[in-house]
Amino acid sequence: MSQQLEQVKALIQLREKARLGGGQKRIDSQHSKGKFTARERIAMLLDEGSFEEFDMFVTHRCTNFGMEKDTFLGDGVVTGYGTIEGRLVYVFAQDFTVFGGSLSESFAMKICKIMDQAMKMGAPVIGLNDSGGARIQEGVNALAGYAEIFQRNILASGVIPQISAIFGPCAGGAVYSPALTDFNIMTKGTSYMFLTGPKVVKTVTGEDVTQEQLGGASVHASKSGVAHFAVNNEEEGIHIIRELLSFLPQNNLEEAPVLETADPIDRLDDSLNEIIPDSPNKPYDMYEVIAAIVDDGRFLEVHKDYATNIIVGFARFNGTSVGIVANQPKVLAGVLDNNASRKAARFVRFCDAFNIPLVTLVDVPGFLPGTQQEYGGIILHGAKLLYAYGEATVPKVTVTLRKSYGGAYCVMSSKHLRGDINYAWPSAEIAVMGPSGAIEVLYGKEMASAENPAEFATQKEKEYRDAFANPYNAARYGYIDDVIEPRNTRFRVIRALQQLTTKKLTNPAKKHDNLPL
Ligand code: HXC
Repeated sequence: MSQQLEQVKALIQLREKARLGGGQKRIDSQHSKGKFTARERIAMLLDEGSFEEFDMFVTHRCTNFGMEKDTFLGDGVVTGYGTIEGRLVYVFAQDFTVFGGSLSESFAMKICKIMDQAMKMGAPVIGLNDSGGARIQEGVNALAGYAEIFQRNILASGVIPQISAIFGPCAGGAVYSPALTDFNIMTKGTSYMFLTGPKVVKTVTGEDVTQEQLGGASVHASKSGVAHFAVNNEEEGIHIIRELLSFLPQNNLEEAPVLETADPIDRLDDSLNEIIPDSPNKPYDMYEVIAAIVDDGRFLEVHKDYATNIIVGFARFNGTSVGIVANQPKVLAGVLDNNASRKAARFVRFCDAFNIPLVTLVDVPGFLPGTQQEYGGIILHGAKLLYAYGEATVPKVTVTLRKSYGGAYCVMSSKHLRGDINYAWPSAEIAVMGPSGAIEVLYGKEMASAENPAEFATQKEKEYRDAFANPYNAARYGYIDDVIEPRNTRFRVIRALQQLTTKKLTNPAKKHDNLPL
């Protein structure tokens, strides 16, 4: 065998060794936990055969605790680029079979390299997390590595989409990289995220809590809002990443791809003409409205289990990707509270950063009153949503279906926050407050001294409703551009979006804004 052939053979052997990560035993252990390996995950995520790996031969440089005798090719993270539906993406996958996927200086350098490359190329970064956190033997070098990644997460924010999947542990400071990215996907039962684990919690607070209770997927998807998607298994998580990317542009200077659809733009949906119940206090399901108007009824919901009184997610109108924000009358009457305001504000800002038009469906009785909300900062959180809509320069189409009362009227993409096209259904009620509250304020004294207070209140409520609980007052001032037939909503929204494709609007130059955090 020639010397060169021997060198080629040695290369192939090295590659095989690198592909084994921490070895077959640890791979088997990973599988026995219902988890895939880093390489298997990348293979599922990317278009077949598209993966190009970087830094397969990188090893750590640590000499503490005899670590120089313990090295693995690749050092516990697989990095590189490939395509999803033919579009370039950069990816890293932490390999739990090597030192529990823990992060060393070299490991961090590999991630930073693909993040830098992604920024130069203007392509998304996807991180598949499965790690025991900072590699203990490396000390401050591991911490430095995390901070280098955080810095890149921050600079990439709003420039390229960043998506994190958590397919195993993600503990300590390691949680902050996913937290800085745009979307977090967690697998139920096999992933968890927390700053300090159950043992430390027990020592510091005396609280007994399991990993699942402290930071499992369901907890973060429903209580903290850290996870945007909680999925049943890794395949589902990978599918969500691929679908999510189909709605997004490659970077902030591009538009999202327009997909062909067979769904006619002028498809009428008669059920919408009868969806609003006669009683203003009766709910209906906003999901039915969304499904009726978007292309093929397909809606990728974000934060499905968190602050369910507001709905956010991606859909298409005539192939154009949009972000939908909709109050959900079925939950807390669709009221805006702290969590709903934060959830929607973050989504609106994401869409605006990535040139994705916003379609807002309004049925909101107002902000939720009470000490719990006030102490929790509803003034600041509500202001975030107000701010997000007001600063957004993407096309904004709003349809008011029923209630739009008080401050919530202003907030929900109103004309005054530079809403481009504001439609209302004939069932819309736009006023300072709902009839019963208004009557109490306006006629409280008369009501108390009235011969028949209930009759008096009913009469006054009717007068108020006739005068204010309709869309025509707002339409008279031009705050509503048109009152539309509900069954025609899809067509009217598509026409509005078509009209807005050349929209140009910029905010005043500034270093950055000062969003009320
Ligand atoms: C070095 C680690 C490691 C770590 C795990 N390993 N975590 N090595 N540094 N942080 C190694 C183990 O020694 C073991 O090596 C292998 O990975 C698998 O770990 P196991 O414990 O056997 O696996 P499992 O039982 O599944 O438990 C997984 C785990 C546990 C829950 C993640 O390993 C664990 O608690 N690790 C420590 C978590 C942690 O406290 N990290 C530091 C957080 S602080 P062998 O050779 O036996 O296979 C932090 C600061 C960052 O991250 C700050 C940034 C700002």
